Amino acid sequence: MTGALLGGISSQFRVNPFTGQHLEVARANGAKILTTGGREFIDMFMAHGSTVLGHANPDVFGAIREILDAGVIVGYETGLGEEVAEQIVEFVPSAEAVRFVASGSEAVSTTMRLCRAHTDREIILKIDGHFNGGSDYAVINSMWTNTDSSNPGGRPSRPILSSNGVPQAVVDTVVPVPWNDIPALEATLEMYRDRVAAVIMVPIDYNNGCIVPSDGYLAQAQELVHNAGGIVVFDEVLSGFKTGLGCAQELYGVTPDITLLSKALSSGVPLSAIAGCADVMSTFMVPLPKGALQGGTYAGNIIGLAAAKATLGVLSKPDFYPQMQSRADRFYGELQAMFDASPLPARVQALGCMFGLYIGTRDPVTSYQEIRALDRELNKRFFAGCIEEGVYFHTDFSVSAAHSEENLAQVIERMGKVASQIH
Ligand SMILES: Cc1ncc(COP(=O)(O)O)c(C=O)c1O
Repeated sequence: MTGALLGGISSQFRVNPFTGQHLEVARANGAKILTTGGREFIDMFMAHGSTVLGHANPDVFGAIREILDAGVIVGYETGLGEEVAEQIVEFVPSAEAVRFVASGSEAVSTTMRLCRAHTDREIILKIDGHFNGGSDYAVINSMWTNTDSSNPGGRPSRPILSSNGVPQAVVDTVVPVPWNDIPALEATLEMYRDRVAAVIMVPIDYNNGCIVPSDGYLAQAQELVHNAGGIVVFDEVLSGFKTGLGCAQELYGVTPDITLLSKALSSGVPLSAIAGCADVMSTFMVPLPKGALQGGTYAGNIIGLAAAKATLGVLSKPDFYPQMQSRADRFYGELQAMFDASPLPARVQALGCMFGLYIGTRDPVTSYQEIRALDRELNKRFFAGCIEEGVYFHTDFSVSAAHSEENLAQVIERMGKVASQIH
């Protein structure tokens, strides 16, 4: 133990997985961060993937400064919630009604309660390896490191906890199911017949790099869950607004019952949205204790809402996504070409403005078993080398609208230098 702040951190996710250290940042602007020690990095982490616009976007900052003149209004509605809810309903296919909470984890746990209350069922199917935040219900089979490697597929996975302190009673209500595995989903729904309240999944898995749903998986999964009387929840906390205004659900043409949004929604200012079909959402309106409780001091806080309104204003400009996407796609292509010409095998996988980078293979990576087979030490050495060269990688790899062509060329040049030394 060092100072009063335990371990020097407020979140265990702050520790860099490649260096084992946390970074102390004095300023974050555009695509760059400046540490308290005066080192500048081109940032590829972008605040846990929570901004598509880059750090300190002037429109978002202007909106935050303006709203602060009204005071830090907590515990009242201001009209801003309605405005942002209307924007979400306009842009996100599944959104007919919206409630705001403060964090992604809160959105997940509240939504699990909503689905249980709505269906009067207890079991939640969670995807083996997907990250859905830090609630008791979500630290089960969370990330590729906690997947059930003994499951050959076609059946539910064994629960694997990534934290101590989760009651067995909670574990008993969350059933992990392998992703992209329709027979496993079918078998699990049959095993827990009439007991499944919902399935929660991320439609694009950026938490494990960039693993996408196999062809037709989302639609088939949705049909199976609906036929079994369950609710389909897309956790788009990370994937939301990364591929376009309509999020991953629009890209894949599959409209879930409930969508969870956060991060890019408000450019990193704490805010999350539970957005879904009016029927399921109306369970929040049923008088308690029959309905589902949703609320909190910071739910729909005005700073987050002001940031979200401004962010969605920028994202909805017609040129925004095409321009960012073409710059990002050029970067992914050039990055892969750099690796192809280097002695270090590496695979770039990308969708929208986020990407995965798997060091140690030139082959597509489509499963958590394949990630497990990669050389961890080589990955650590490579990314620690990039950080040493001034390119900051942490857990989520992002290109933002603030990454200029020059920034991205520098990133490739510095990464190329590391790739030529580490193999
Ligand atoms: C898909 C997904 N769901 C939920 C969460 C949890 O959000 P928060 O960190 O705001 O609690 C995250 C955070 O990274 C996430 O990526």
